[in-house]
Amino acid sequence: KQYSVVVPAAGVGARMQNRVPKQYLKIAGKTLLEHCLENLIRHPAIKQVILALHPQDPYFEQLPLAGEPWLQRVEGGAERADSVLAGLEALDNDDWVLVHDAARPCLPHQDLDTLLALARGATGGILAIPVRDTMKRGDGHNLVLRTESREGLWHALTPQFFPLPQLKDALRRALQASVRITDEASAIEWAGGKVNLVPGSPCNIKVTQPDDLILAEFYLTRMHD
Ligand code: CTP
Ligand code: MG
Repeated sequence: KQYSVVVPAAGVGARMQNRVPKQYLKIAGKTLLEHCLENLIRHPAIKQVILALHPQDPYFEQLPLAGEPWLQRVEGGAERADSVLAGLEALDNDDWVLVHDAARPCLPHQDLDTLLALARGATGGILAIPVRDTMKRGDGHNLVLRTESREGLWHALTPQFFPLPQLKDALRRALQASVRITDEASAIEWAGGKVNLVPGSPCNIKVTQPDDLILAEFYLTRMHD
């Protein structure tokens, strides 16, 4: 069985502090976006990618994969959730759908396999990693209010994997209600749905700050060894 992946890539990468949006920065000779997309389409369970781009994106057209038949472009929106919804609206007949950040080029295929196995059960889920460090609640002025228990706390990663009609409906309604939605699971949770936590690998980082480029390059090289 094969699935579509929606890849939001319409962000500006403000925290990366580079003129070029981070998905177009290069590591190991290729842009993060190319690494991300090529890694996805190499997986036998992926049939196509719906790519949400910034309406004034001048970079994508320059990439060799711009004309690939497995790639469909849509116009992204102001927030990540808007971009993802634009991608989902381009799909009609899929039963399940994956959503994966353009800024995560090092997703191991094995993690994707584990996540896809959820489709055999009734509810979707996300790749996630248990929190490692001691968690402090700050008062907003760099003073500790208290230590929060790290029991049961997870970092949410992507891909996230849900039944298409359920995710589309949850995202539409959450955006309509102006709920702050930072990942697909938060829309599903808000709508009362169930989200499974699927333990993922720490190498599946989201490139966010300049140092992350070095880390991503390290993990990428190791993936292809
Ligand atoms: N994204 C998107 N549309 C937006 C905002 C973000 O498609 N309006 C995408 C980004 O391109 C990225 C993914 O969502 O692939 C995860 O978002 P994030 O890491 O926050 O990227 P940016 O928003 O670009 O970075 P920053 O928050 O530092 O500006
Ligand atoms: Mg952002």
